[in-house]
Amino acid sequence: MSIELYKDAQHACVTFTDLVPDEEAVQANQFLIVDHGEGVILDPGGNMTYNELSLTMRKYIAPNKLDYILASHADPDIIASLDRWMTGSQAKLVISALWARFAPHFCKLGKTDRRVIAVPDAGGRLRFGQTQLWLLPAHFMHAEGNFQFYDPVSKILFSGDLGVSLLSGAQAGHVITSLDPMPHGMEAFHRRYMVSNKILKLWVRMVRQLDIALIAPQHGAPLAGAAIGQLLDWLDNLPCGIDLMGPGQYQIPTTDLAV
Ligand SMILES: [Fe+2]
Ligand SMILES: [Fe+2]
Repeated sequence: MSIELYKDAQHACVTFTDLVPDEEAVQANQFLIVDHGEGVILDPGGNMTYNELSLTMRKYIAPNKLDYILASHADPDIIASLDRWMTGSQAKLVISALWARFAPHFCKLGKTDRRVIAVPDAGGRLRFGQTQLWLLPAHFMHAEGNFQFYDPVSKILFSGDLGVSLLSGAQAGHVITSLDPMPHGMEAFHRRYMVSNKILKLWVRMVRQLDIALIAPQHGAPLAGAAIGQLLDWLDNLPCGIDLMGPGQYQIPTTDLAV
């Protein structure tokens, strides 16, 4: 099922929250942005999402009007369906320069020829339709080469693996307006998947300059209202990743794996 996060006469932001069976793999959101009849898709996911996403998308644009596939990073839940998108559309892949020569491993030989745009660490603004999408540096949140996407029309920040909660596909369709109580999985996820508080602080300082109506993460529910400020304040002071690692986490294992 698709949910419209924003819609006006010429611009729409659509999310898909329930294309991954809850019992099969971690819930993941995919996004489509359409402007003046042209479109981009953000973090389309793996093979479980391809059929439904490519079919439902046709309500908004034809596959040949898809200009770009943007990948926040190169994880399987982000871009493992790349081979099918390269076949089913003429779109180019837009991804961090760190992953531009790794992502073609998801594809058959030749599928990505001259169809990968390698984004430098500083990010940039990507024109499509009559608008631009801002590619914001989000390195180490959590991947080494990582971008988030800000849409200045809808004022939605598509935050990838930041602002994540671990919910069902149905729950992820409901906007959260307060982090009191914190949604399921949010604290544990950020403590382990984010690399360090230094990085979070740098990111918070950058995004406080943006006018944000909604934060739409790749897992879990979108955040709006008071939840946006609460998330930024919380992340600004959150110890995570290497902040929490010490000799205790680096011991030769002695326990058999349960298999
Ligand atoms: Fe990831
Ligand atoms: Fe993810």
